[in-house]
Amino acid sequence: MSSRVDPLADTGQDLHRFVDAYAEHFGDDLLVVREPVGRDQDVTALVWALAAEGRHPALKFERVQGLDSPLVTNLFASRERVGRMLGGVAAAGIHAEYQSRSRRMVAPREVGGGAVTEVVQSEGFDLTTLPTIKHFATDRGPYITNAVVVAEDRDAGIGNVSYHRSMLNGAQTLGTSLHSRGHLWRMFQAQAERGRPLPVAMVIGAHPLFMLAAAARLPYGVDERHVAGGLFGAPLEVVRTPRYGIAVPAHAEFVLEGVIDPEAKSEEGPFGEFTGYSSDRSTNNLLRVQTLMQRRDAWLLDVVGGNSAEHLNLGRIPRESEMVEKLRERFPGVTAVHYPSSGTHFHAYVALRQSRPGEARQVMLGLLGWDPYLKTVIAVDEDVDVMRDEEVLWALATHFQPHLDVVIVEGLPGSALDPSASGVGTTSRMGLDATRGPGFEGVRARIDAAAMQRAGELLARLSAGHAG
Ligand SMILES: Cc1cc2nc3c(=O)[nH]c(=O)nc-3n(C[C@H](O)[C@H](O)[C@H](O)COP(=O)(O)O)c2cc1C
Repeated sequence: MSSRVDPLADTGQDLHRFVDAYAEHFGDDLLVVREPVGRDQDVTALVWALAAEGRHPALKFERVQGLDSPLVTNLFASRERVGRMLGGVAAAGIHAEYQSRSRRMVAPREVGGGAVTEVVQSEGFDLTTLPTIKHFATDRGPYITNAVVVAEDRDAGIGNVSYHRSMLNGAQTLGTSLHSRGHLWRMFQAQAERGRPLPVAMVIGAHPLFMLAAAARLPYGVDERHVAGGLFGAPLEVVRTPRYGIAVPAHAEFVLEGVIDPEAKSEEGPFGEFTGYSSDRSTNNLLRVQTLMQRRDAWLLDVVGGNSAEHLNLGRIPRESEMVEKLRERFPGVTAVHYPSSGTHFHAYVALRQSRPGEARQVMLGLLGWDPYLKTVIAVDEDVDVMRDEEVLWALATHFQPHLDVVIVEGLPGSALDPSASGVGTTSRMGLDATRGPGFEGVRARIDAAAMQRAGELLARLSAGHAG
């Protein structure tokens, strides 16, 4: 049993209570903006300006022009904050904590009602009144970036939850993209082949642990709502949508129930994607919304788009966690794995203690094979801090010989959004072995610990002198 006290544990799977508890206990990590801001790029611009100063606070905007509700964003931009969501683990402990919680799948529990059942409309609603913002100048328009789509296949007894950027295009329709062609796409295709639409429920805004679970990539048939239960350490409380009976978080902000139409297409995109490029690679699906559910005082919970720290963290933390576990099972010498922001989702660094020649190559091939987004993996020795680009690049500069240490595999399926690839075709992948290897003769320039200590003391005296 952990002796940690978790001030965020009892927030009732409710976003508002989570943000209030966060403000109370970690107030210096939540920036509340009371000044009015515009809904066209101002939110994204502030996130970028803060990031340029190395700051990634959670943000709550009280007044966004044209929106009747507050806007919360950037929740996932810092690993320290994600560690707090997971019970107060340090950033370095996130992978282990995420895996141990998410492996403990817990089935959802149906409850009689919740915040999201406060207002339920089956006709006459107008989606254009939903709070939305435009993130980038290059976006086609305002986007829902936190659109978490839940689908159920009752015959097969399975459910799926995944993110799909969405753009309103009418009072009761929206355009969405299934370009990553994951499990929702598979469920949609199966129905489309029979000429049937796929019923879905789109959750917009819920407790951050639900959002983290929704980003998990699991084998087909494993339901992210059970992972949410694992992350919460208690069943996800759900209510059923009125028309199709899809189980959605009872304490969500908004839920849109409807069908993805196999016959219709909807223009959407371009949108600023995780690659840092504006992308119009889209499956252009049309969602016909038949029910709007919402809490009365619903907030807009936004996910910052583009290659923001938030967007990248949300996608990579569950993936890194899974990869570390998988790699360690096979290769106990692996000590750390990191997907750097500089590589969007396409680069990974892996540190290892090599027990036999060639092991680094085998580890890199494992990672390149398991994670379909990866294009480049760099392997380093365990003393290199994979969280820091400059250390990994130093290892590459000094331990690596291009004619000896590169493995390239061609013709594998890649990310549809990689601007350097065709989008529907294949990609090549590369492993760079920047471990020192058996014949390495370099001697590290070293400073004695005692000299470092003297320097530390000198610095302290110099700063005290300044302060005086
Ligand atoms: C913030 C965020 C936004 C995403 N947006 C999209 C999207 O617009 N379209 C898409 O196909 N995948 C998108 N993804 C990726 C899918 O949600 C992801 O591949 C998911 O794991 C697929 O799950 P599934 O295989 O269970 O369907 C996004 C992921 C995140 C974390």
